[in-house]
Amino acid sequence: MRVLLLGATGSIGTAIARGLVQNGHAVTGLARSAKSADTIAALGGTPLCGDLRHPCEWSGVLHKVDAVIHTAATFDSDMGETDRKVVTELLKQAKDRSAPLRFLYTGGCWLYGTTGNRIADETKVKRPIDSFKWMVEQGQRVLAADGVSGAIVHPGMVYHEEGGAFARFLEAVRANEPIEVWGGLNTRWPLVHRDDLAQAYLALLERPELTGEFNVCAQSGVPVSQIIAEIAQRSGHVSGYVVRTLKYVLCKHGAMAEGPTLDQQMSAEKIRQLIGWEPEHGCFTTATF
Ligand SMILES: NC(=O)c1ccc[n+]([C@@H]2O[C@H](COP(=O)([O-])OP(=O)(O)OC[C@H]3O[C@@H](n4cnc5c(N)ncnc54)[C@H](OP(=O)(O)O)[C@@H]3O)[C@@H](O)[C@H]2O)c1
Repeated sequence: MRVLLLGATGSIGTAIARGLVQNGHAVTGLARSAKSADTIAALGGTPLCGDLRHPCEWSGVLHKVDAVIHTAATFDSDMGETDRKVVTELLKQAKDRSAPLRFLYTGGCWLYGTTGNRIADETKVKRPIDSFKWMVEQGQRVLAADGVSGAIVHPGMVYHEEGGAFARFLEAVRANEPIEVWGGLNTRWPLVHRDDLAQAYLALLERPELTGEFNVCAQSGVPVSQIIAEIAQRSGHVSGYVVRTLKYVLCKHGAMAEGPTLDQQMSAEKIRQLIGWEPEHGCFTTATF
């Protein structure tokens, strides 16, 4: 398939780009800089110069692809507004197509809010953290749009060989500083390795009859204490840890820092059952990071 990939240079998008190319798909990746264009070319894709903030300038490419996978985000104060503009423009272009557009939109576990001991499946009412409220609405617009076969992928916390969700902990290790735990040691994170996540996107891409929402995690909820213990043990880190309250992290790092403080459990049973998705990294302790 010919796929437009937004966010091809990102934590999640890099693995998707790699997976698409390996499986014979033609990837066009939006690139806002020469550096990103080079990265996309190195991954085997074709860079398309353009900025997420100005979708009208590049959305015409939609008529030359079969699908769009959206994994881009500015992570700036304009994140929600930018996403709304991107989705609006893509859905406008989709209306004029002769064949339906396969559209994989990226949501995330933070849209469920704190779940505590309940394991969130796709039917759970969303209680997104404030800084990601916009994402629920944009995802629903994709699912409801004419001329679109839409699916929303909700990844758990995504880790990979360069760290990903663990990056902050690994930086503390490198600096020989205490690892900061945001929220509490018992806070649980649903986890997925990005290569396994990419396989889920690929499988959904090729099954346009599967629409709706799909959680993707290999482990439903791993206490942060286990993650930092594993990292400390691997690295011989002896500087310990410090627990930071929600109030502290919000003041110091802004509203998005609420995400890692959420105590969450999430189920990926639906995607396992429907497409037989089975992660290679069933447990994070078996992976390199
Ligand atoms: N990572 C996780 O654990 C996780 C979990 C659940 C959901 N999600 C969601 O998944 C999505 C992607 O997350 P991520 O961790 O992969 O993010 P990321 O590593 O920060 O990647 C963001 C991507 O968006 C691109 N981008 C940002 N601003 C742009 C602009 N103005 N124009 C064009 N491209 C732009 C970046 O390109 P450059 O390389 O040019 O900067 C990069 O490719 C987000 O919506 C996030 O909320 C992430």
